[in-house]
Amino acid sequence: MHQDTGGIVPEVAAREHLRAIDALTEKALGDAGCQLTEIDAIAATVGPGLIGCLLVGANYARGLALSAGLPFVGVNHLEGHVYANWLEEREATPEPELPAVVLVVSGAHSDLVLMEAHRRFRPLGRTIDDAAGEAFDKVARLLHLGFPGGPIIERVAKAGDPKAFPLPRAAVADRFDFSFSGLKTAVLRLVRELEKKGEVPVADVAASFQKAITEMLAEKTARAAAEHAVQTVLLGGGVAANLALREEIARRIGHPLRVPSPALCTDNGAMIGAAAFFALRHRGTEIPVAVRSDLKLA
Ligand SMILES: Nc1ncnc2c1ncn2[C@@H]1O[C@H](COP(=O)(O)OP(=O)(O)O)[C@@H](O)[C@H]1O
Ligand SMILES: [Mg+2]
Repeated sequence: MHQDTGGIVPEVAAREHLRAIDALTEKALGDAGCQLTEIDAIAATVGPGLIGCLLVGANYARGLALSAGLPFVGVNHLEGHVYANWLEEREATPEPELPAVVLVVSGAHSDLVLMEAHRRFRPLGRTIDDAAGEAFDKVARLLHLGFPGGPIIERVAKAGDPKAFPLPRAAVADRFDFSFSGLKTAVLRLVRELEKKGEVPVADVAASFQKAITEMLAEKTARAAAEHAVQTVLLGGGVAANLALREEIARRIGHPLRVPSPALCTDNGAMIGAAAFFALRHRGTEIPVAVRSDLKLA
């Protein structure tokens, strides 16, 4: 549906949420083989995000919690992306050690944060214009590759030369902030020029773009890790599914790097459950309940 429109139309997304949510809840319970009576709490995302979609999810969950006599836990979507790192046990260290530097990169966010303890986040930097995922999606559209662009760019880039075209790495005054609009414009100009000359070498453009954006993300993440006494570097959000990004960051840091499996990087319900689990365990920290489209991490 979103592919047909080349992106997400908020009203369409909200309507589809409403259409799907009842059957989806039934299916989730069925797949897990459990009854509502075996559940401890019901969580839903309360922000940030598209207000229509947030309202559908949060109101449905609140209603369900009320009718089942269970607590409702409002979850910050970005906190969900962070807590996706607690869903899988790794042999050496079952849980990520804190404090950690966390890079949350998705279609709407590029946030670099210091996670001091559970549910305690201090912002270090964020994008001053486009989000990293948005840049991937826009470049993919420019190359007529489809939506969402991130996974397609990653696949196409494998056959390309990342050094084929020199692209700018933006310098931003604030040390941990990002800016991707200059890179996006540079790719636009490059593609227009190549189009005039004949066929566009799509794989080379995709690889050069991916190299530029992953280097920009990796450089600041590594600097943040070096300057703060942290135990771990964590990634989250749709763009964290990108293997080139993982490799670029792993190469530059002396810390253990944790990244959720690709399916747990892109939006999913399990990560919201994980964040809710820690919200309940670490009571005393505020649990948001009101829906807010511009909710921040920290
Ligand atoms: N392998 C990948 N490489 C780069 N970007 C990716 C990859 N997989 C997904 N993305 C990007 O992640 C973004 C979606 O992030 P996600 O957190 O799932 O959704 P949202 O931004 O709506 O919260 C999209 O912009 C998509 O292109
Ligand atoms: Mg997301």
